[in-house]
Amino acid sequence: MTGLFITLEGPEGAGKSTNREYLAEHLRAQGLDVVLSREPGGTPLAERIRELLLAPSDEPMAADTELLLVFAARAQHLAQVIRPALARGAVVLCDRFTDATYAYQGGGRGLSQERIATLESFVQGELRPDLTLIFDLPVEVGLARASARGRLDRFEQEGRAFFDAVRQAYLQRAEADPQRYRVVDAAQSLAEVQVQLDALLPELLERARG
Ligand SMILES: Nc1ncnc2c1ncn2[C@@H]1O[C@H](COP(=O)(O)OP(=O)(O)O)[C@@H](O)[C@H]1O
Ligand SMILES: [Mg+2]
Repeated sequence: MTGLFITLEGPEGAGKSTNREYLAEHLRAQGLDVVLSREPGGTPLAERIRELLLAPSDEPMAADTELLLVFAARAQHLAQVIRPALARGAVVLCDRFTDATYAYQGGGRGLSQERIATLESFVQGELRPDLTLIFDLPVEVGLARASARGRLDRFEQEGRAFFDAVRQAYLQRAEADPQRYRVVDAAQSLAEVQVQLDALLPELLERARG
């Protein structure tokens, strides 16, 4: 068995966490073994790296430091959670993965795709998500939903141009590989977003059952 690796991508406030639960419920109701995780994080050590990444600090973090921390956390998460789950045939629903690196560290911070791709191959080998859902919405809508939650983390403190670049990077990746990506219109009401997800469920179930 090789499992099914599904990632949910998009900015803060796009509805990734809410809809990850929704998808998990439906897949579990069909008797599937579903593992929920998130990045950066997903193991105790990787969550400690997440704290380093998100905490606002007086010392500016060099873009390469940020990139290496993201992939250090990912290496741990792959070793402890994702690869074992896939090996036993589970469906892994992961809130953010390497597409977020291309969007935030690539689009947002301006690091080259080649630099990111080098680390992607180094850390992941051939492993890529089977399917990636991009929760897309106008920057201001996501920011409004996220800022309603309280204190802003180091990424949320970035400006409008950063989030525009993040959004464009996600959409470019989706456009380049329609086989792997599905773009969800996340600006709609939650009920409408879930209608979009319902339309994807038959395909997910079919692929999860191999
Ligand atoms: N389609 C939607 N319309 C309005 N509010 C939403 C929608 N989806 C999620 N929310 C709300 O926006 C906030 C952020 O959602 P969440 O699932 O935590 O997003 P993310 O995990 O992508 O940051 C939550 O308060 C959630 O209830
Ligand atoms: Mg979330």
